[in-house]
Amino acid sequence: MGAARDASRRAYAPYSNFHVGAAILTKDGTIYAGCNVENASYGLAICAERNAVAAMALANPEGREIRLVAVSSPNASPCFPCGACRQVMREFGCKEVVVEYESGLRSYLFEEILPHAFGPEDL
Ligand code: THU
Repeated sequence: MGAARDASRRAYAPYSNFHVGAAILTKDGTIYAGCNVENASYGLAICAERNAVAAMALANPEGREIRLVAVSSPNASPCFPCGACRQVMREFGCKEVVVEYESGLRSYLFEEILPHAFGPEDL
């Protein structure tokens, strides 16, 4: 969550002013972070979670198994991943999602976050 908080400070969110940071912990123990990056063409905004996945994919093709994703936003507590990001996290086997409430961190099993998901094994 520390890495997610740091990443939220790098958010490029001049349109929504909604700052988000996400951090992936991979099965092999590496952390990859991302922040949201918006655009003057609003629909092209990319969420923090998907940018973190892109960082992971680029860094190590052999280490793309996600153990957990932590999400942080100074604008919302908690900040849950959007539906599109949940599907992208699912692709890489995410097991757990951690969000922060005013009272502290809370962890959810990925199954609770995206039940009955469609994934690579279904093809
Ligand atoms: N956003 C994220 O980056 N992650 C989330 O979990 C929710 C939403 C971004 C997208 C957009 O830049 C801004 O927050 C407002 O929707």
